[in-house]
Amino acid sequence: MVIYLSGEVDEARLDEMTPRQIVTELDKHVVGQTAAKRAVAVALRNRVRRQKLPPDMAADVMPKNIIMIGSTGVGKTEIARRLARMSNSPFLKVEASKFTEVGYVGRDVESMIRDLTEIAVEMTRVEKAEEIADKAEAAAEERILDLLLPSSSRATHFDFDAEFTDQPEPSGEDQLTREDGGANRTREKLREQLRAGKLNNRIVELEVRERSFPTIEVAGPQGVEEMGINMKDMLGNLFQGRTKRRKMRVDEAMENLIQEEEERLIDMDAVARTALDRVESSAIIFLDEIDKIAGRESGAGPDVSREGVQRDILPIVEGTTVNTRYGMVKTDHILFIAAGAFHVSKPSDLIPELQGRFPIRVELESLTIEDFKRIMTEPKNSLVKQYRALLETEGIELDFTADAVDAVARFAALVNEQTEDIGARRLHTILEKVLDEISFEGPDIEPKQQKVDAAYVSRALSEIVKDQDLSRYIL
Ligand SMILES: Nc1ncnc2c1ncn2[C@@H]1O[C@H](COP(=O)(O)OP(=O)(O)OP(=O)(O)O)[C@@H](O)[C@H]1O
Ligand SMILES: [Mg+2]
Repeated sequence: MVIYLSGEVDEARLDEMTPRQIVTELDKHVVGQTAAKRAVAVALRNRVRRQKLPPDMAADVMPKNIIMIGSTGVGKTEIARRLARMSNSPFLKVEASKFTEVGYVGRDVESMIRDLTEIAVEMTRVEKAEEIADKAEAAAEERILDLLLPSSSRATHFDFDAEFTDQPEPSGEDQLTREDGGANRTREKLREQLRAGKLNNRIVELEVRERSFPTIEVAGPQGVEEMGINMKDMLGNLFQGRTKRRKMRVDEAMENLIQEEEERLIDMDAVARTALDRVESSAIIFLDEIDKIAGRESGAGPDVSREGVQRDILPIVEGTTVNTRYGMVKTDHILFIAAGAFHVSKPSDLIPELQGRFPIRVELESLTIEDFKRIMTEPKNSLVKQYRALLETEGIELDFTADAVDAVARFAALVNEQTEDIGARRLHTILEKVLDEISFEGPDIEPKQQKVDAAYVSRALSEIVKDQDLSRYIL
């Protein structure tokens, strides 16, 4: 049996991971790109190191923000995604370009921090909920038993639609005369049946809190989400007190009650405090598409000027205090990982102040045929494994041979070269095309063993290979 002392198990695990171990973990999902993996691993480790320093020094150690440079589809976002899953730190991915879009004029970039805080609060709440899950369940069970057994409480609503044969339900009068021992025995019997799921079909009536309130979208130029949040809070409070009685199945009631008990047992103020703490000391923001805001000319037309967006982002990266609905958040130690293709612009096109706040630059390499082969087969949930599993659900045994993998990889490289280089994304389009026939036939296909080899691949793609213009549209 595992005993958890607190909710920090996973965090402890990451704390103990050396940069080398972090890279090894990333290797399971992302092929190649060692430089980028090393950079993020070191940045993460440095934060753990910082937290072990005496406070006055720790305050001065700034995060080593990273810019990942690499053309499209080489794994920039993939690295960030995997990191997020591993790190158990509050993690937010935003496209820097969205701040320049027409619809977002005036959207303040501080919303990143507010979103991040929401994520941290939810994360912390879920952890706390796991900690008290047993308690909540036990309490919910007692309440269900109270509902089912009127003798032990004042709740008298019960009826049954399912056959409930084990013992005749005692009538109200019987119970008044019954001594405690008997009642207890009945209760324990009922508990056993409840746990075995035998009572799931019975209906109980339950007081539930009214949750639905009219959705009102409040959008104004001055910070959409802040207003939205406040409105929701207000309305939430307005409707919170309202309850209504609802009939439901026992299993549904159990879920409802567990949730209610959780809410009762979790101290949301403490959760918010922990969450704010986590945001300040260990959060990561992944700023994707940063190249889209590089360039100093102010955009012609309705777009917000890119330089303007950079200037807005600057204080947050630099370290500022942002007001969220859970309290103030200092952004000084949030780690920023930016990424961009930088085809048109270069990192040096960013305003100097921002460049200075991203001291680490790593380049991601273009993917080779060898990489493509590995991407298709090696990662834990690689593409070929995904297709095999998908088809298996319909009883098809897909045998995707090594020379087929080779053929697809070569073909992907060729198309990337001749048309647009979209990196490993090309594999998705090509594989989809190759497996089109089998996917379409699905359960009707005969025989159930389907072999895809190099010959099959070239047959499936032959029409498209011939015609370059066609391949431009199809792949
Ligand atoms: N090195 C890699 N290892 C494994 N899979 C990869 C790798 N590079 C790309 N992929 C696959 O290609 C897809 C696209 O990669 P990703 O989202 O990381 O691209 P990107 O570098 O962020 O590109 P963009 O600049 O267009 O955002 C991923 O879903 C992933 O499956
Ligand atoms: Mg990306």
